[in-house]
Order: sequence, then structure tokens, then C-alpha cells
Amino acid sequence: MIFGTRPEAIKMAPLIKEFIKKTEEFDTKVCVTAQHRQMLDQVLDFFEITPDYDLDLMKPDQDLYSLTADIITKLKPVLNEFRPDYVYVHGDTTTSMAASIAAFYSGAKICHIEAGLRTNNKRSPFPEEINRQITGRIADFHFAPTDASRNNLLRENVNVNDILVTGNTVIDALVESVTKVNTLQNDEINQLKNTIDRSRKIILVTGHRRENHGKGFVNICVALKEIAHEHTDVQIIYPVHLNPNVKGPVYEILSGIQNINLIEPLSYPAFVWLMDQAYLIITDSGGVQEEAPSLGKPVLVMRDSTERPEAVAAGTVILVGTDKERIVDETRLLLVDTTRYEKMSGLHNPYGDGKASYRIVEFMARQN
Ligand code: UD1
Ligand code: UDP
Repeated sequence: MIFGTRPEAIKMAPLIKEFIKKTEEFDTKVCVTAQHRQMLDQVLDFFEITPDYDLDLMKPDQDLYSLTADIITKLKPVLNEFRPDYVYVHGDTTTSMAASIAAFYSGAKICHIEAGLRTNNKRSPFPEEINRQITGRIADFHFAPTDASRNNLLRENVNVNDILVTGNTVIDALVESVTKVNTLQNDEINQLKNTIDRSRKIILVTGHRRENHGKGFVNICVALKEIAHEHTDVQIIYPVHLNPNVKGPVYEILSGIQNINLIEPLSYPAFVWLMDQAYLIITDSGGVQEEAPSLGKPVLVMRDSTERPEAVAAGTVILVGTDKERIVDETRLLLVDTTRYEKMSGLHNPYGDGKASYRIVEFMARQN
């Protein structure tokens, strides 16, 4: 299992646990590229995963060229030593794409988790759309979260027998964690309880997409500032991604506003707890778009297109792009129009039932 960033770790954790249950059938090893460092370690700690190999690659403000080259080069000795039959990669990060190339060179078969998501716009999300297309081209087995993602793969002539619709493992992680967070003694959750003013509506914000760096993030921040001033009865809580291209504008534009709390990235359980407290979520995250429908939280997605159309169809998600007026207007509508709010906040589970990892392991057991 090779992964490197926070969301990959969250979504691979349930699968690792499922494989480890079957030690007689599978010899499982975990390799992290550590494309993320602190944000990855938060997840490894919570899910109690100790990697067998840690490439420790993250560099401050890293670029795609050196990251890609480093991943491929540093995986060579790991793959030569362990000689896996199968390499599991997840989703669409640079780790997923580069690890699948390295795994292919090693002769292993490649299993792609969260396969088949597409916008078919190679610049949005950037570079993820091309990362997942390359990974999909190399993969031997494709674990698609939904029928729509399966159909995308069929359109690309992937053999129907190599695809399994599983649901998204993010829901496996969520189901396990939602029950845990209510009883967990967690300092971050205790701290959040002191930060949150329960008499106000909580708007939870996250963002990091590379195509939004620069002008996009400036627009997003100006919109959030306007929302905070117009609606003094809301509290905006924003765990800010550690990417300097995000932290820079966010702290510059939004520091010191009375009803905006800029905080460090939260550990997964604290974030799940906070999502559950939120009235509304504004994000450009992929994972959050998948989690929010299961918690019945409306989401405004700060992107022009999404590879996750299921929640849009279910009515939980609205695409608002990074247009300042659009973000402010849609937020206002959800704050004042209770009918609209209730329509969007119905519970939906388009991304799974919490058993995706089980299905993947059962499928792989049949390959041996
Ligand atoms: C990466 C993925 C993106 C994924 C996102 C999840 C690529 C190209 N991008 O974007 O697909 O959706 O992660 O969050 O694969 N940093 C830290 N500590 C951390 C993590 C990041 O300081 O724990 C800072 C570093 O300065 C690092 C920078 O953020 O160089 C960028 O990290 P990188 O993984 O390249 O890009 P993300 O924007 O995090
Ligand atoms: N998340 C977290 N702490 C935070 C913000 C998000 O644990 O402070 C989790 C969130 O629950 C989701 C994942 O991180 O599972 C999403 O990660 P991100 O938005 O960075 O990446 P994406 O999903 O867009 O690839």
C-alpha cells in the first residue's frame, strides 16, 4: 500500500486494517512517500498505522517536477526489497501517479482505489485529473466507488471484469470515526468546544486546490470576509491547509476578523466532530464533498466542475466556483431560506455504506 497525503491516508486506513486481519492470505506492507508530513502523521496516529517504509519526501513549497522524480527514484529500493505482487495506490495525487509508474516498472500488478473519477478537463482539477487518468491507464484492477465512476472506466475501454464497484473507503473511515468521536477524549475537540459559540451558525471552510492558488484564493477570502461582516450571527471556522500558497493569502486577508477563526489543520476525529457541528460547509476538497452528504451537511464547492456528480444530483452539493458574488449569494440563501436549507441537508449516502474495504479484500482473495 503506497500513499503520501492526508486524504489518501484517511481512505487507505480502513483497507489496511482489512488486509491486516487476513495475515494468512496477505503479507501487507505500508509505504508512505510522506508527500505530506504533519498532515499525514495526524492520520497515521489516529488510525494507529506504523509504516514499514517512510520515504520522508516532503519539502517546503515543493514543486511537481522534483516531487514526481523523487517518488519514483526512492520507491525503487523499496519495491526491489519487498517485491510485491500487488501495489495499491489511491486516487489522484502525485504520489498515486508516480507510485503506479514505479510499481509498473517493478513488475507488480497495480490496484487503483477510488478509480474512475473524471472531469475530463485536464486542467481542472490540476494536476489530479491527469494523475488519475495515468494511474487508471496503468492499473490492473480498478475499485470504483460508484456506478458513475465505473461507467467512466468502461468508456475508456477498461475490461469490465477488472472493475469492482465498492463504495468509497472514505465512508468506511467516517462510519468508524463518527461513533468514536463522541466518546473519544480528544484535546482538540475539547479546545473546539471552547472556541465554538453554539448560539451561532457554524460555517466550516477548507480549501487547497492548486488551480485556485493566486486569484482564486484571494476571491474566496474576500467572499468569506464579506459573509462574516454581513452575517454577524455566524461563526466561520477555517482549518487552514499548510500549503504556503494557501496559508499566505488566507492569513493576510482574514486575520483579526471577530467571527472568523483561522486554525491549524485538525486531526481527522476533530474534523469529523466539527463537520457534524457545522450548519454549512464551504470547500474545494474532494473528500469533504463525499463525507458531508452522509452527515446531512449542505456543501458549497468552490470549483467549476466536479468528478463527484453524485452529491450534486442528490442536491447536497452546489458548485459555486471561486466567484466572490456567487459564494456570498449562495451562502446568504442558505442562511436565510430555511426551505432551501432543509432540502439540501437531507441525509444521503451516494458514496457508500462503510463496507468498501471489505469488498476490495474479498475480491483480491479470489485472485490468489
Ligand atoms: C496535495 C495533492 C492534492 C490533494 C491534497 C490533499 C498533489 C499534486 N496534490 O496537495 O491532490 O488533494 O494534497 O490535501 O498530489 N505542507 C506542509 N505540511 C503538510 C502538508 C503540506 O507543510 O503536512 C506544505 C509544504 O510546504 C508542501 C506544500 O504544503 O510543500 C504542498 O504540498 P503538496 O502535497 O505538494 O500539495 P497540496 O496542495 O498539499
Ligand atoms: N480533514 C482533516 N482535517 C482538516 C481538514 C480535512 O482531517 O483539518 C480531512 C477530511 O475529513 C477529509 C480529508 O481530510 O477526509 C480531505 O482532505 P483534503 O481536503 O486535504 O484533500 P482532498 O480530499 O481534496 O484530496
